[in-house]
Amino acid sequence: DKVAFNTPHIALIGMMGVGKTTIGRRLAKRLGREFYDSDDEIETASGRTVSGYFHDHGEAEFRAGEKRVISRLVGSEIVKPSIVLATGGGAFTHEPTRDILLSHSLTIWLQGDIDVILERVSRNNKRPLLQVEDPRAKLEELFKARDPIYGLAQIHVPIAKGPHIRTVNRVIRAIN
Ligand code: S3P
Repeated sequence: DKVAFNTPHIALIGMMGVGKTTIGRRLAKRLGREFYDSDDEIETASGRTVSGYFHDHGEAEFRAGEKRVISRLVGSEIVKPSIVLATGGGAFTHEPTRDILLSHSLTIWLQGDIDVILERVSRNNKRPLLQVEDPRAKLEELFKARDPIYGLAQIHVPIAKGPHIRTVNRVIRAIN
């Protein structure tokens, strides 16, 4: 298997529910790298769920914490083995975090459409931003605001229909 050993850190970005965590974990395995998830790191560091953290501290403080976590994972000048990082859906939309991601990693936008995402998040709505009366309207609003920003990622990969492994293969083709 010809895989990319020489690329920098890989950061998966994109809307909640596209599969960044599952795809990232499998991608890391294929590349022989460590996998990290920024939401998990925040939960470990704060001892709170993402949802709980949002409710207690608000979005601005969450974004600041998210930036610290991402900076610690990929922003260091100390040379460490390259990792695969799944970022929370809003991380790349926060400019200071985006700057870190763009300068220290290969950013890959996993693009999914609204119906797929709605279907997935409605199975288990642990996303504070979608805990509203009309999640579709909220998602549409987020898509409109975020798509142009996600578009700044270096590589764009539409998620495949069916099993995540197909998207993993697409990502591997895209980086080779
Ligand atoms: C968010 C996405 C979530 C999580 C938080 C905020 C967002 O991550 O960080 O609920 O702003 O899109 P996932 O993309 O992993 O769901």
